[in-house]
Amino acid sequence: MIEVLSNLPLLLKGTLAVIVVLLLLVFTNRLTTWEYIVPKEVQWIDRPPERFGYLRAKARSFFVMKQNVMQAYLECNKKGRAAALAIAFGRPQIILPPKYIRWIIDQPESVLSMDPIHDEFHAFVQDGLVGDHSVQEVLRKELTHNLGRLTADINDEIVDALQAVWGDSPEWRTIPLKDSTRTIIARITNRLFVGKELCRNEQYIRDAVGLGLAVMPETVFQDLLPRPLKGPVSKLVKWINRFYMAGFNRHLLPVVQQRIRDVKRMEEQAEAASSADELPSEFLTWIVQRAIRRGEPMADMEQRVIARVGMANLASIETTTNTMSKCLADLTTLGEAQGYRALVTAEARTVLRECQQRPEKKDIDRLGCIENALKESLRLAVVFPGLIRQVTSPTGATLAADKETGGLRLPHGARISVAAYAIHRDDSLWPEATTYNPARYEVEHAAAPRVPMSRASERFLSFGMGKRACPGRFFVTDELKLLFAHIFTKYEIKVIPPPPTTAGLLTELTLRGPQEQLMIRRRTEEEMETA
Ligand code: HEM
Repeated sequence: MIEVLSNLPLLLKGTLAVIVVLLLLVFTNRLTTWEYIVPKEVQWIDRPPERFGYLRAKARSFFVMKQNVMQAYLECNKKGRAAALAIAFGRPQIILPPKYIRWIIDQPESVLSMDPIHDEFHAFVQDGLVGDHSVQEVLRKELTHNLGRLTADINDEIVDALQAVWGDSPEWRTIPLKDSTRTIIARITNRLFVGKELCRNEQYIRDAVGLGLAVMPETVFQDLLPRPLKGPVSKLVKWINRFYMAGFNRHLLPVVQQRIRDVKRMEEQAEAASSADELPSEFLTWIVQRAIRRGEPMADMEQRVIARVGMANLASIETTTNTMSKCLADLTTLGEAQGYRALVTAEARTVLRECQQRPEKKDIDRLGCIENALKESLRLAVVFPGLIRQVTSPTGATLAADKETGGLRLPHGARISVAAYAIHRDDSLWPEATTYNPARYEVEHAAAPRVPMSRASERFLSFGMGKRACPGRFFVTDELKLLFAHIFTKYEIKVIPPPPTTAGLLTELTLRGPQEQLMIRRRTEEEMETA
């Protein structure tokens, strides 16, 4: 072979060498990126022809995501066409025009699914979670159906967490907004996940928060690797995660072991069990009950249950913390100027006073101004594209043909989404869309029953839509409404924006950028009485 090659004329040798180098480049590119999965006819945004252009566009997307989504919407989606974006978190996305929202949510899982996207995250917690839907099912059914009965627990934890984290000093002091809200949220959420004792264990809460903060950068890092390296590196990363999971495990294991024993005993003697034997109404009980009723093997059940609690924490803490921080900042700056903060404070005081600080579900339902404020901040908070799904059908999926898209063919493995950020800022869907105005929902209220913030629509996609819409949205609505009622009754707060600095890639990745500061003082009992 070598002899044959060396006898070839120089020109042919040169041509062969160029072909081999080109093939190697194409091969490396396919191993490193998913750029090729976007159909040729789809226009790329922010992807000029440059060396390592796709990887550079991915890195840039950290900083210009909003602008890119807006450009995709205005330049392509509004004209009925799809657009492609490089995204730091995973494969490129094909942003479809809003007219395809119904099509997206109506597709069976065998055509479009969010599972492959989740699995990238969940593999870090435990491989056994890949393809597992127990967490979603428990949140959708048991948690949501039992919410009314859980109001007292939510309220109790809110009162205690605020006291522990924000304190009761009537003197002004300054604390980091997000770090402190994250701890409060992690406590309230874990009260419903694993009960009172663990959610008040500081180390357990630190590990639950740490797991969430670690998984995000790990996923991005792993995504940037060439595919052959992903397997070995993922093993290494999972090994690092043991550090967080070890703490999580240490605290959870005895509780999980006991709960498995209790659930088994109750299941075996269902008829003999008295109401005194009742198991705590919390996520942990329901997840164990499901596992046992399904006949899952007992051998590694403890570890699977712990991983599911980890997964529920991953889905809930950062999302809720971001929403709470954004809404507090909006209400105390823009909402203050519009007088909406005063409305919220008055409503919070009235509702909490009338129920003597012992709210039930019906009292939460009366917190309409707070819900409007939360909904408005949620609308404006969306940064990423929404309804992200992956084409799971081995033969791909084809959009219905029309004159703009011409029946675009989406190959197996392609990721699609819609420009939620831009849809939420479209003046034709939301009058004066970029203006913060919680009162806009009161207008809806006067004309028709108020649309709850948990209800998705084609113009409000903060919790997604369809059968895969966020299963925690009913709980989070109650949790944040009640939390805000306590905050605005008991505290005076001001939010100070962070200094204008350009955050680096590492800072963005580790969520350690400069954050808003919260100036806070607790109102005295006297102030609360006389207000
Ligand atoms: C304000 C806070 C939250 C926001 C903005 C939010 C938003 C979202 C969004 C946009 C999705 C994707 C839906 C889709 O593409 O159709 C989602 C999914 C999900 N969320 Fe939330 N979420 C929040 C809080 C929570 C909480 C508190 C929990 C748990 C108690 C939770 C659990 C989940 C889970 C498990 C999924 C995956 C659903 C599935 O696989 O079908 N989320 N969330």
